[in-house]
Amino acid sequence: MKILMINGTMRHGSSYHIGKMVIEKIAREEDQVIELFLPKDMPEYCRGCATCIMESEKKCPDYLMYMKRVTRMIDEADLLVFTSPVHVLHVTGALKVLLDHYGYRFMVHRPEESMFSKQAVCVTTGAGGGMRSTLKDIKSSLFFWGVARIYTYGIAVSAIRWEDVEMSIKEKIVNDVDQLALKLTRDTASVTPALKTKILFYIMRHIQQNGKHLPDVAYWKEKGWLGKARPWKKAAQKTGQEN
Ligand SMILES: Cc1cc2nc3c(=O)[nH]c(=O)nc-3n(C[C@H](O)[C@H](O)[C@H](O)COP(=O)(O)O)c2cc1C
Repeated sequence: MKILMINGTMRHGSSYHIGKMVIEKIAREEDQVIELFLPKDMPEYCRGCATCIMESEKKCPDYLMYMKRVTRMIDEADLLVFTSPVHVLHVTGALKVLLDHYGYRFMVHRPEESMFSKQAVCVTTGAGGGMRSTLKDIKSSLFFWGVARIYTYGIAVSAIRWEDVEMSIKEKIVNDVDQLALKLTRDTASVTPALKTKILFYIMRHIQQNGKHLPDVAYWKEKGWLGKARPWKKAAQKTGQEN
């Protein structure tokens, strides 16, 4: 199993520690676990040129230096673990910057096929509030990427440093993580998208059937999604079965 952790800060703080606890629950020795820290691993703002959407993501000014590597890691992972503290009620700027770079992958444009069989966990901690809006910042992107199963966990830790988090809160976190980990599976081949994701796919498919934006329409055609193929049905694509 390949696990990719993407951290919204460089800190090994509360959010990071909880993300690691999730990973420790599911990972085995033979697994590959990679940790990325932002902004180090992707420090460039999206310039808003929209070249990724209008032409190709490979023409993004940040593709060769950063995005190629990060995107490969994301695509290869079976499980994505995102962590971010609440920063003024939202995700950190560094993580938002990374998510901005994937506008072209929204289902309305060119979703990556492997998303439809991935699991993801989003973790946030705040001193007191804003966990819901922060998780929504991450989850919205993952949903529109087509990630099959998205789980979220947020908690107020009443502290700036993990070392200062009260023992009673840490105990609650341990219990909550146990529960969360039960929802994850190591049987990655069995992961299929939630109904909501499939519905969104079919709405986007309908849009692409009458689509005017050529790079997107060509992509959907090439994938066979305007025909019988579906991104979550690899066997069906090979045999040409109807969904
Ligand atoms: C710039 C900044 C903004 C913050 N904004 C909020 C906030 O809006 N709500 C909140 O509850 N905590 C806020 N905090 C506190 C952190 O979210 C909290 O301490 C968190 O647990 C830190 O997580 P970390 O250890 O993973 O970095 C903020 C902290 C910083 C540095």
